[in-house]
Amino acid sequence: MLWDIEALKKKAQEEINSAQDLAGVDAMRIKYLGRKGIIAEIFSKLPELSAEEKSQTGKFANELKFFLTELINNKVQQLKTIDHRPKTVDLDITLPGIKPEIGTRHPITQVLEEICAIFTQMGFKIFDSPEIETEFNNFTALNIPLEHPSRDAFDTFYIRRQKLLLRSHTSPGQIRVMKKYKPPLAVVVPGKVYRPDAVDASHSFMFHQVEGFLVDERVRFSDLKGVLTNFSQELFGSDIKMRFRPHFFPFTEPSAEVDISCVMCEGKGCSVCGKKGWLEILGAGMIHPNVFKAVGYPKNKYTGFAFGMGVERIAMLKYGIDDIRLFFENDLRFLRQF
Ligand code: PHE
Repeated sequence: MLWDIEALKKKAQEEINSAQDLAGVDAMRIKYLGRKGIIAEIFSKLPELSAEEKSQTGKFANELKFFLTELINNKVQQLKTIDHRPKTVDLDITLPGIKPEIGTRHPITQVLEEICAIFTQMGFKIFDSPEIETEFNNFTALNIPLEHPSRDAFDTFYIRRQKLLLRSHTSPGQIRVMKKYKPPLAVVVPGKVYRPDAVDASHSFMFHQVEGFLVDERVRFSDLKGVLTNFSQELFGSDIKMRFRPHFFPFTEPSAEVDISCVMCEGKGCSVCGKKGWLEILGAGMIHPNVFKAVGYPKNKYTGFAFGMGVERIAMLKYGIDDIRLFFENDLRFLRQF
């Protein structure tokens, strides 16, 4: 035999096993299996051999070829999975550090806290009420009858056909507080509310409200006016004027929509107030007797007022923002301004 196949196999095996990297293995592939490699050379010399040598050598060379192909492929796999990260790290502890970024509170959080702070100064307590509500708390107890349009699935996110939903306003907070506590009560309920509205410059499927209510014996509409006037002057400045327009809410009677004089034009009329000079900021009224009945308060003992305001709307007026979507896009260039 012209070649000692066994010795060749042993040598190739050693060389391939000791390859340090992929380039090293590749060099072995070329050396043994390449077009001009050792195996190819053996095959090219076969015609010069005797018939018996030819078949023997051909057989061995073929076996060696398969053996080395497999060995090389395994070695490549092995090298690819090895962790090539350096074992020691070059660490220069004298380099200047990376300054951690200091965040700011979201503008909605800031306005929400500002609103709550004004009411806590007036003696109101803050109550945290859940965002997942029962149909009873969100509607029934608030005197919103079965056939009222806002009960349709269109206006409320329902949860899996159960009688649970994402609260569409913070008013169910009134029910939770009154079911749990007896008057006198002065409470604000801040938080997220949900409505399946198409998103545009003034609508979002999620926004924030602050609910407020006060219940005691002999609470009057003038108390509501006093509290809300103090609130808007604290928030927007002492020159702000208020206007109460008659309105309808199922859970208050009488009800009103409350406007403030336009913060942009001071009532002269501009594009923000639609030339009206007034901006609607909240809904309010005297709590309906049916609501007291639903929470089990004795008949004719208490009176009270309630109001609810949208935080995004107030923040937009306060900062002159014309698109509600800006609050929820997480654009730091916008958020860093507050
Ligand atoms: N819940 C009403 C709304 O979301 C607002 C409101 C609250 C009105 C309390 C009157 C009294 O539109």
